[in-house]
Amino acid sequence: MAAVISIANQKGGVGKTTLTLNLGYGLARMGRKVLLIDVDPQFNLTFGLIGMDVLNYETTNVGTLMTRESSVEETIVEITENLHLIPSHLNLSAKEIEIINAYNRERRLEKAISPVLPDYDYVLIDNPPSMGIFLVNSLTASDYVLIPLELSYFGVIGMQLMFNLMAMIREETNESLTLMGLVPNKFTRQTKVPQTRLKELRETYPDAPILTTIPKAIALEKAQGEGVSIFDYEPEGRAARAFEKLTREVISIVEGE
Ligand SMILES: Nc1ncnc2c1ncn2[C@@H]1O[C@H](COP(=O)(O)OP(=O)(O)OP(=O)(O)O)[C@@H](O)[C@H]1O
Ligand SMILES: [Mg+2]
Repeated sequence: MAAVISIANQKGGVGKTTLTLNLGYGLARMGRKVLLIDVDPQFNLTFGLIGMDVLNYETTNVGTLMTRESSVEETIVEITENLHLIPSHLNLSAKEIEIINAYNRERRLEKAISPVLPDYDYVLIDNPPSMGIFLVNSLTASDYVLIPLELSYFGVIGMQLMFNLMAMIREETNESLTLMGLVPNKFTRQTKVPQTRLKELRETYPDAPILTTIPKAIALEKAQGEGVSIFDYEPEGRAARAFEKLTREVISIVEGE
């Protein structure tokens, strides 16, 4: 049965999509069966994986899945043998109103994906930078939350918003939602600021596990631009090594190795 992990942060541009894509490839390379779900109307993850083919999925995407216009089986796109995708689409934001007015609106995603959970080891959900119905569906469907963040002043204090939302979700729809950890991203040693913020992060949220730090690396940006994972783009680089370490860390948390 798959472990379902939401990659979430209401702040934009912190690395949610980068983390979803590269952790997905990292897990798939280690022989795990992975389903990625893109619930972001900006469809960056989908575009990164299938490019302009995103246009082909007007009637089978995460939005039509949540409105029950398509079944989960027909909505899954095979990227590689071990890596599958439920794509987002240009029309996802138009579906939002429909989903908000639907019966059981917080559980549309959870219910829709449940038939395929036995087919996967991991389900990773990439979320939009907002606290709307898509993030609520994603957290309701998840066992764990992974939070990428930048070590800036607002990046650190902004964590409280995510923790508040998680508390609300635990109260209302998903009692067992667990914080897997925070993933400091775009880390640089060029100034002392990130080190200081990391210390503040530990002091402010002593109960939040802090996982592998991902360095700031142009290679990650370029890989995303070319639609490949960091393992294919620059396998020996610092960023690939960090993602490999993070992948092992996630596996050990979930599988208890
Ligand atoms: N460690 C890193 N080093 C350098 N560039 C990075 C790193 N992580 C992410 N980026 C770049 O930063 C930008 C934002 O990253 P990404 O799209 O993953 O963030 P996001 O949280 O998904 O954004 P949004 O909130 O808009 O969905 C992208 O151009 C990405 O390539
Ligand atoms: Mg994104």
